Order: sequence, then C-alpha cells, then structure tokens
Amino acid sequence: MANLQLDEPEPEAADDGVWLTCIECGETFAPFEGIRYTCDECGGLLEVRYADLPTFEDFDSAAIADSVWRYDAALPFEAGVSLPEGGTPLHEVPRLEADMGVDRLRVKHEGMNPTGSFKDRGMTVGVRVAEEIGVDRLACASTGNTSAALSAYGARAGIETLVLLPAGKVAAGKVAQASLHGARILEVDGNFDRCLDIVQNLADRGEAYLLNSLNPFRLEGQKTIGLEILEQFHAEEGAYPDRIVLPVGNAGNTAALYKAFRELVESGALDESDVPKLTGVQAEGSAPMVEAIEKGWEDTKRWEDVETIATAIRIGNPVNAPKALPGIRETGGTAVAVSDEQITAAQRDLASEGVGVEPASAASVAGLRKLRREGVVEADEQVVCLTTGHLLKDPDAAAEAGSDPEPVPDDTDAVLEHLAE
Ligand code: F0G
Repeated sequence: MANLQLDEPEPEAADDGVWLTCIECGETFAPFEGIRYTCDECGGLLEVRYADLPTFEDFDSAAIADSVWRYDAALPFEAGVSLPEGGTPLHEVPRLEADMGVDRLRVKHEGMNPTGSFKDRGMTVGVRVAEEIGVDRLACASTGNTSAALSAYGARAGIETLVLLPAGKVAAGKVAQASLHGARILEVDGNFDRCLDIVQNLADRGEAYLLNSLNPFRLEGQKTIGLEILEQFHAEEGAYPDRIVLPVGNAGNTAALYKAFRELVESGALDESDVPKLTGVQAEGSAPMVEAIEKGWEDTKRWEDVETIATAIRIGNPVNAPKALPGIRETGGTAVAVSDEQITAAQRDLASEGVGVEPASAASVAGLRKLRREGVVEADEQVVCLTTGHLLKDPDAAAEAGSDPEPVPDDTDAVLEHLAE
C-alpha cells in the first residue's frame, strides 16, 4: 500500500529543502540530479517532498487565483516558463445548480488556461525542471491536451518537442495546436496507453525528457487547481467546498489535488474535516478507476479496449492510480461512470449557462447529476465541478451536440419567411 504520509525527516539527498520520495519503498532521491520518473529501487511512483510546507498566509505574491506562481511557496521554484497560466474562473451556474438540487454549485473552468486546458499548470513547472536538469528534447504521449500544452511550453522554452498521439483519436483543435507550435507529431497506430508505453521506453533510453503526469513535477503545478479552488470558494462562500467532482483519465489531477490537501493539512493550514471529498468521473467505456474503487482494489487493472466520445479520457491504464485511489478513499469521495449520452447532455447543460467545454470536462457535471440522483451526493452539499478543457478543443463534438446551421437564401424577405416558419 502506498505511503502518502508527509512527516518524513529531510534526507541527505534534499536540494534546498526539496527531494523525491518513492511512495512504495520510501527511497529518497535528489530532485534535479540525474533523470528518473519512477523509483530506481522498486519502480514505484515518486512524489516531490518539501522540508517546509506553506500555509495560506505564504501565498501572498498576487491576488487570489492570479496565477500558478502565486503558489510558489508550494512549488520547487519561484518562477517557471510561463504564458501565464492559472487564475481560472470559478463560475456560478444558478440554473444548473437549481436543476441539480444541491446547496451550491460552482464550476472551475480550466479551459480558460493559455492552451485551453489544465495541463498548462503542470507544464509551467515541468518545463522549468527540464531547464534545470538541462535536457534537449521534451516528449509526451497524449490524448491531445498534454501534447498541446507541451508543444506551447516547449516552444516558449526553445526546446525541441516530440508528441505521440493515438492515430484518429485526438480532437482536431489539439492536433492543430501541437502542429502550429512546431512539435514533431508521431501518430501511433495504437491507443493512448500504447503511446505512453512507447514514450516511456524512449525516455528510459535517454531519447527525451518525459512530461506525462508520471513525471512528479507535473503534478506540483496541477496542485494549484486545488489551492485556487479552496481560496476562491472560501473568499466568496465563506467556507470550503464539501466536494470536488472531476473527470479522470490518467488520474494525475486526482493525485495532484489530494497532494495539495495533504500538504495543507500537514502544515496546519487546513483542518482534516475541511478536505473536500474527491469524486472522480470516467466514461463507461474506459472506467478502470471506477472498477478499482467499486472492488476495493489498491491498483487498477488495465483495460485493453477503451472507447468514449470523451477522447481526452479514453485511457485504460491510469498510471497515477496508486496516488489517486487513496485520495478518493481517504477524503470520503467516490468514483462513478457515465455514458456518452450523459456526457453530451451535460456539455449542453454547461453551454446553456454560457460555459463552453469539451466532452471530457462535461463528465464531471454528468457524474454529479448521476450521484445526486442516486442520493450519494446530498441536497445540502456545496460542490465544485472541474471542467478541464475548452469547447474549441473538440469542434466536431461541439457541432454534433449543438444545433445545426439553417441554410437560407440571400434575401431579407426570405430570411423573415424562414424565421416565421
Ligand atoms: N480532462 C481533459 C480535458 C484531459 O485532457 C484529461 C487528460 C483529463 C481530463 C484527465 O486528467 O489524466 O489527470 O486524470 N488528458 C491527458 C492528455 C491524458 O494527454 O491530454 P487526468
């Protein structure tokens, strides 16, 4: 069972109060010496650890939710390769809230980041670490958004970038981003999990620096989603949210949010009882995390065949499961699977409030609706749904879910006639 306690003493290997710890065997490593993504001893997942953990008072560099780097006290550096990222809106959605039947519903729209997804938060830190280590090529496997973000941040840093995508299964907007930002795009005749297998092999052979969420520094940047939600919600609602509902693919975000909360509890900034219940949502056609939660497993079993309209979370082997499953369990959360139809309905619901998201993002709202209907989420709860990517990422899905254009003649009277029909 993974050890996610944060009370270990600072090891010899630490550099300026920062080190890496294996969550399985406890081995520690210097953070920026040599390149490793998992434990040299046992292959377990690594976590970034700090000698000093911040309280909210240490986040004072700018206004609440101004940017990722407001939270530098919780990060390994004071600044990164920035576009800038973070500071996303926490929307009110009053009609959806009433319809859903919860006390409060807010939507944290990560689609408002520079490349249109939360991945930017991870890349501003991850690419800064790549600079620190001194690498000449960055790489990732991706269902699309990671590749878009890495391409932009790699370009910003002036480092060559390689992305491996599952052929035919990445939404148009995301491929366009990687293309224009100048990444080399390799379309693999296999699914995302196979792309990740291959890029890990390339990284192991020293061909590139891996910036998937297996890289523990990525998750440091993504912690700031949790920090922003807590600060924004508390400032506007006078309390912390009871629950955060988020879509799950590789389970990096679930792991990152849980780490943010563990660190605040360890520093004494957050009471254990105020930690929001982490609630993960997957598509029915790719739901290994839901299976693991339902069956009480400590890790997921790889699904070889996965399918969903929410291509961003079309993932059968969530590599961060050993970090994320305890996060869901220890916070009192749960995981739920939703159908493609429920995802599209939720995408329309959000759009009707003016919030445009891609299908994977709408899974959070679809999951909340299902859990509310089942009575798992109660009427008196204050909930934040995370929407992870922008509508324009997947224009085909948006057009499919939305209304069709109506052809009309080039004539005002004919247009009026058409409208009257
Ligand atoms: N939502 C969107 C829009 C995503 O792009 C992803 C992951 C997730 C949710 C799931 O997040 O992996 O942290 O559980 N996309 C990755 C990619 C896999 O390659 O862009 P997770």
